[in-house]
Parts: sequence; structure tokens; C-alpha cells
Amino acid sequence: MSEAPTPRSTNPTFEIDSEAIGWITFDDAERRLNVLTEPVMIRFGACLDEARAAGREGRARVIVIRSGKPGSFIAGADIEQIGEAEDLDVAETQIRLGQAIYSDLASLPIPTVAAIHGVCVGGGVEMSLACDYRVLSDSEKTGMSLPEVQLGILPAWGGTTRLPRLIGLQAALDLLLTGKRVDARKAKRIGLASEVVPADLFMRKVRDFALSIGANPGHAPAHKRKLRTRLLDETGLGRRIVLAMARKKVMASTGGHYPAPLRILDILRDNLAKSIEESLGAEARAAAELLVSPVCKNLLHVFHMREGARKGKGVPAADAVEAHAVLTLGVIGAGVMGGGIGQLAARKAIRVYMKDIRHEAVTGGLQHARGLFDKAVKRRRMSSREAAQSMELITGGLEYHGLSDSDLVVEAVVEKMAVKKAVLLEAEQHVGHDCVLATNTSSLSVTEMAGALERPEQFCGMHFFNPVHRMPLVEVIRGPDTSAETIATVYSLALRLGKVPVVVGDGPGFLVNRILGPYLNEAGFLLGDGATIADVDRVARIFGMPMGPFRLIDEVGIDVTGHAGASLHRGLGERLAPAPALLDLGRTDRLGRKGGVGFYTYEDGREKQIDETIYSELSSVPKSRRPFTDQEIRNRLVLAMVNEAARVLEDGIVTSAQDVDLAMIMGTGFPPFRGGLLRFADTLHPRALLDTVKGLHQAHGDRFAPAPVLEQLAADDRTFYAAFSGSAEQR
Ligand SMILES: NC(=O)c1ccc[n+]([C@@H]2O[C@H](COP(=O)([O-])OP(=O)(O)OC[C@H]3O[C@@H](n4cnc5c(N)ncnc54)[C@H](O)[C@@H]3O)[C@@H](O)[C@H]2O)c1
Repeated sequence: MSEAPTPRSTNPTFEIDSEAIGWITFDDAERRLNVLTEPVMIRFGACLDEARAAGREGRARVIVIRSGKPGSFIAGADIEQIGEAEDLDVAETQIRLGQAIYSDLASLPIPTVAAIHGVCVGGGVEMSLACDYRVLSDSEKTGMSLPEVQLGILPAWGGTTRLPRLIGLQAALDLLLTGKRVDARKAKRIGLASEVVPADLFMRKVRDFALSIGANPGHAPAHKRKLRTRLLDETGLGRRIVLAMARKKVMASTGGHYPAPLRILDILRDNLAKSIEESLGAEARAAAELLVSPVCKNLLHVFHMREGARKGKGVPAADAVEAHAVLTLGVIGAGVMGGGIGQLAARKAIRVYMKDIRHEAVTGGLQHARGLFDKAVKRRRMSSREAAQSMELITGGLEYHGLSDSDLVVEAVVEKMAVKKAVLLEAEQHVGHDCVLATNTSSLSVTEMAGALERPEQFCGMHFFNPVHRMPLVEVIRGPDTSAETIATVYSLALRLGKVPVVVGDGPGFLVNRILGPYLNEAGFLLGDGATIADVDRVARIFGMPMGPFRLIDEVGIDVTGHAGASLHRGLGERLAPAPALLDLGRTDRLGRKGGVGFYTYEDGREKQIDETIYSELSSVPKSRRPFTDQEIRNRLVLAMVNEAARVLEDGIVTSAQDVDLAMIMGTGFPPFRGGLLRFADTLHPRALLDTVKGLHQAHGDRFAPAPVLEQLAADDRTFYAAFSGSAEQR
């Protein structure tokens, strides 16, 4: 891809031992994990030349590929290089080079073994597929995955071609279409691993295996598949059925917005019965097309944003401050959120004390946690022993004393300022001097709460989303005096809990709810203007939202959305005045999914259909519906968010477009294939964007008054990403 000569690498190395085993060892001195960069691949190709010669001359009887890193094999291709691909033909040529090296491996004249202990991802898996055998350690760390599809591409160094030929179509689809990881046991079961050996004797067992293969080439541990599986995998009719079902499933879960899984299915449909060479050609072409596509670029962008968050990029002065370790967590309020937070912490081996004012609430919180553990066991996410051990970490009671040894306390009591202030102040008296306090408020002022405390520098917001165990975002809300240590501590706890934290300033609705507010409200205005529920939700889904705004209001709860809307109105003024249709809705006894009826009807919590009687129940909604173009609905819904996001940046709630985008993707399911709300906005010309918003302003009034930032971007002809590149230091 670059014009400059590729630097040479001395990694991997090749050596032949006294027992005629040729060892190819990957050990990148510059990196923590082995990555298949261009120089490394070129060096690997040279090692294969040496191995071929050694095999021909009888100096080596078998080749073993191993890692010199203690807990990992190969972490895949170089993701930076993937992101650089711009030209279709260049990308295809690059892919073909990688394929050629792996084809060399596959055609060595002596047997080949991949010795896999620890992480084995992407190109590492494909390398092992080009070997004759794969020996895995039984360590928990050992796992194989082909996550390319998650980045909008496909495994193009032979993965899409060799995996189905090795383990069968259905098992291969399960890995190729999801990117999921399989452990050693599962790898053996599906025929991916030839042998699983104890981790503590790993190299010895690999050597034994290699020697036995070297002495007896052609010997392969047989892998048997059931007759039904074979009928589906190996007959033309069976394959057509499997592929048609898989395509249906992909379309249902992605709406066709993600081309990679569909291309994988195309390749398998057209090439599974053909030669490896033909299939590799199709694989390279398809992968190159995907690589240069905007969806791939957007998914890589999301990947980098997540990685940035994981590395603490959002923490101000991250290098200068240290997060306090949280070994014991206090949770005040053992309700829906408190119970969820407690369970999550215990799952990550943190001791938890849940405090409430009612015994039943404490019992309820414990039961909530236990229920979540039971579900995790049922879904095989953890063993029942692990669940029982985690549950033992949670205690609860009515006493503040229980919080005395907490390193951090999260308050999750009712959403009332007076109660929160009193509870936080009381907690502050009972905890140690270093303890950090955090509030899980969804709408109240963190600044006002801080004012009630003696140590406001040790206080901030920690806004989890409901349900806690599923929603990946945590907003870490800075108060006026919050110290950098406090932010770092809460941020690192959020990471430990497996969440994606985004640091935001205090203000009505913080970040995500503030941007979502105008979107949901606009759906209400559309309803009042005569749009149908079906059309509005359909257009939002076509845009890529996981569900339409009406369905989302039902999901969150009509009462909860009503309160959130009212609080945004109070905090941000008339621009956020609730749509009359939503005010009408609040006066009905519909609650949304939890009550069995909202915009939709539900049976046992499952959506049934739109409740057409709702139109006549909302007095501000006209009696007859009128058609809207999809474009109009989409502009109103999406640009309401973009305009609000511009104001969020102006108010300094966050300083970077990335923060807006990461939070919206993680907090609302904003479609990752678009790369984020503002990355989407940046695909429109700044002046065209402003003109469209101005048009909406004229047609619908002041709620669409263009944010000054939009005017500025249009005047400067700049994108959001150019103007708000934001860094922690700017905050
Ligand atoms: N439910 C959500 O969707 C959601 C999402 C994000 C944030 N939040 C916020 O989380 C907080 C809790 O919400 P929830 O849905 O879990 O409420 P909930 O009603 O389920 O639980 C609140 C708990 O606080 C307890 N409580 C009340 N006063 C107390 C006091 N003085 N001391 C100790 N405990 C007390 C109650 O007994 C109850 O068990 C609220 O601030 C809410 O805004 C809720």
C-alpha cells in the first residue's frame, strides 16, 4: 500500500532441531502480541522456503508453527494496514500475496502442525487452516475466532475457503458470520482442533504429536459428523437449504446493511463445490471490494473509538493521575438499577454491599442479582459454581455502616433531588476518606448534588443504562469540582465492569438522553402531523436504528420517557417542549411494553402489533393519516439529533465528535455501519446540511432553529470531525 520499501523483519524464525522438527516461531520483539504485518508475512514466506528445502533434503520431517509469546499465538492481521486500503486492485493484490504465502504453507512436502496456546485470531486461524494439523492447549486463554465480519470484511487469507472444507458448512457459517470465539473443547468437537493437550505440558505434547506425525505422515485423528449434518453439509440440496436459511437470518438481524456476511454466503454458494484456487480468487475479490467500502471504514472507525475508550483516551490528564482500585463497592438503593449494578460488580469479583431503606427492597435486589446469574448460567456464560461464588460476594442491609469499607459507592435511589442529596451526604459521613461517591441519576443535576457534599472533588455521575447487564455505555459525568482521580477511578471501574465509558459534562439529559430527546419528540410531532406509527418506525429501521422511536418509547416505558421529556423541557427550554401527541399519550393509561400496551400491543412481553386504536385516543392527532416520503421522515428524525448534537458540542458537554458518536452507538444502538451520528452528518455537505435544517426550521418552527455550530461549519466549509477532533487535554 505504501510506496516506501517494506522494512525487513527477522520475525518469525526458522530452526531445525536434533529430532528433525522444523520450528517456525513467531515472537515480535516490538509488540505484546504477534501481528501479521507485511514485513512479518514476507519473512514468514522466506521461512516457508527454508522449510520446503529442508523437507526436500530430508533435514526436517515435520514443521511446527508456534508462538514465542507465553499466552498468545497470533492476534491476526495488522488492523492499521486494513484501514489504509483505498484502491480496489491494490487491495486485491495485497490479499492475493497473503493467500499465496498460505498456499505455500498448505503445499509443503512434509506435514505441518500449528501449536496454538492462547489467543488465535483472524490471520492466525487462517494460517492454522493451511496447516495439516492444529494442536490446541486446554487453557482457558486458548480460543480461535475469525472476527473479520465484525469489521465489515471477510477472512480472505483462505479462511472463507478452507474453514468450510475442514469443519463443514454449518459449523463454518457459525464462526464466519458471527466472528465468535470457540474454546479448545469446542474446537475439538467441531473438528477444528486435531488434538487438545494439557496447557502445562504444552510444548512437550506438541513435540510428541509432531514426532508421531513425522514418523507416520498421513495419520489424521478422524473427525466424525452426524449423518444429518453431513446430508446438509455435503449435498447440493442440503447446502442450498443451509445457505438460504443463513441468508434469511442475516437479513433479519442486519436489515441488509452489512454486506460482509452476505458476501461470505455468496462465496460459499458459488465456490464450495469448486477448487480451492477458484474459491480463493472469489474470496480475494470480495474482500477487496469490502475493504474499500464505506461500511468497512465506518466499522473500523467504531473499532478505533472503542479501543480508544478501552485505553482511557477519554480520561483527562490520564497519564498524570492514577485510578484507585475498587475492591469493594457500595450500592445505595437496591432497585432495578442498584440490583443490576451489584450483580455486574460481583460478576467481576468485586465485593458488594447493597443498602436500602426497606428489607424487601434488599431482598429484591439480591433476588434480581441471583436471577441475572441464573440466566448467565443457563446461557452458559458462566458455570453454576462461578455464579454461586459471585453471589456470595453480595451482601445487603439497611445500615450505612455496611458501606464503611467501600472504595466507591454508587447511589441509585429514587429520582428525587432532596432524597439523593440527603442520601449522599449521609453516605459521605460513613465512608472512608478516600472513597469516591457516584450518582446514577438519569436526569438530575450532578452539580447541585455536589453542592450538598463536603468532598465534591470525590463525587461525579456514573450513569448506567437499563438493563445494566446489557447496555454497554456508562456516562461518567464531571461535576464542577470533580478531581481527575475521581474520573479516572470511576472510568476504570466502568471498564472493569465491561462497559464503554464516555466522560461528559453536566447538563440536562447529559449526552445520550439529550440527543435522543428531540428524536423521540419529533416522532410525536410526525404523529401529530398525520404520519403513521408504522411508517415512522419503518423509516428509522431502514436508516439502521435497532427499533423505531415509537417502539423505543414503549420499550423504555411511556411514563419514564414522559418524565425524561419533561425534564429536558425544563432544562433546555421551549425547543424541547413535548409534542402534543406525547403529552396526550401521557394522559392515557398506556405504559408501553411493561404494561402490555403502548403504541404496540404485547403478549408475555413480546411485541404483537401496532395498536391502531391509539390514534383515536390521542386528541391532538388528526383523524386521518396522510402519506409522508421516507426522506421527510428520515430528515426530521435524524437531523433533530444532529442539530442537538451540535448544541451539545457548543455547550462543551463533550468536546469531540468521536465522543458523541461512540456514546450514541453504545447507548442507543445508533447503527455502527454509519460510523456514528456525526460521521453520518459529515457525509452531507455542511452547507447542504444547514440548508436542510433551515428548511425544517421554516416548515416546523423553532425547534429546528439551526444550532450556531451548524452555521459555523457551513461558513467554514468544515465537517464535525475536522472542527471537533477533541482530545482529553482540551477538556
Ligand atoms: N430504571 C431506569 O431505566 C434507569 C436508567 C438509568 C438511571 N436510572 C436512575 O437510577 C436510579 C434508580 O432507579 P431504579 O429504576 O433502580 O429505581 P427503583 O425504584 O427500582 O429503585 C430505587 C430503590 O431506592 C430505594 N430507596 C429509596 N429511598 C432510599 C433511601 N433514602 N436510601 C436507600 N434506598 C432508598 C428504594 O427502596 C428502591 O429499592 C434513579 O435515579 C433513576 O433515575 C434509572
